[in-house]
Amino acid sequence: MDILQSLDRSRLPQHIAIIMDGNGRWAKEQGQDRVFGHHEGVLSVRDIVNGCAEIGISYLTLYAFSTENWNRPKEEVDALMELLVNTIRKEVEVLKKNNVRLHVIGDFESLPAVCQKELNEAKEMTAANTGLNLILALSYSSRWEMIDAAKKMVADAAAGKLKPEEVDDAVFHKYLNTAPFPDPELMIRTSGEYRISNFLLYQLAYAELYFTPVHWPAFRKQNLYEALLDYQKRERRFGKTSEQIQTNSPQHA
Ligand code: FPP
Repeated sequence: MDILQSLDRSRLPQHIAIIMDGNGRWAKEQGQDRVFGHHEGVLSVRDIVNGCAEIGISYLTLYAFSTENWNRPKEEVDALMELLVNTIRKEVEVLKKNNVRLHVIGDFESLPAVCQKELNEAKEMTAANTGLNLILALSYSSRWEMIDAAKKMVADAAAGKLKPEEVDDAVFHKYLNTAPFPDPELMIRTSGEYRISNFLLYQLAYAELYFTPVHWPAFRKQNLYEALLDYQKRERRFGKTSEQIQTNSPQHA
């Protein structure tokens, strides 16, 4: 049977987060340079965004550029920033048409001015869309985000706007870049590495993790459906026992 047909549409994750890894290795396997891999990776971004929108996923977060990626050779960083600007410019009409709303998390001010401008325009142009929320993690790392949250909390506390005893999970969440979004239920990493690499460390507390050896430029809708099928076979217990879950959860009713 077609893998898409075998997915239970009532038990899809609301939010999928992806570490898009393996562009460089994929390019090397093709006898090409790393930047070629990033260009091909954009085709996978397009396919996966469409795939998520088609099956009704509400949030998709893509780790497109980490804080640590600034340490790559300047030519590669420049090529990635240029690719980002050109892709956003080219795809924004498609996003609009497909009812996709664009968001950005990360250290926005550290991005080149031209990137900021393009992203701001695209965010504005898609702000009224009500379908898939596409969240690009750019110049992002989880430790940066948590330290940023801590700074804002300390500033609010110093200004008398926040008391230590008021700080709980919900309050802390409000200070994160991801405040408007629910936590991901599924995190996918391509290219065979078994690491989280400073990505959504707080938000992935209860996420199911899916690792595939497929390099990002080769990861397409069918691979996404396989990940979703695997996700649907898992039992999400949130610290409870299997028996409690079987009795209480509507998804096992
Ligand atoms: C990881 O592969 C990929 C990146 C650091 C960049 C991801 C960017 C894209 C897919 C293109 C731009 C994205 C958007 C949203 C327009 P790697 O270079 O670390 O591969 P390697 O581990 O094989 O070296």
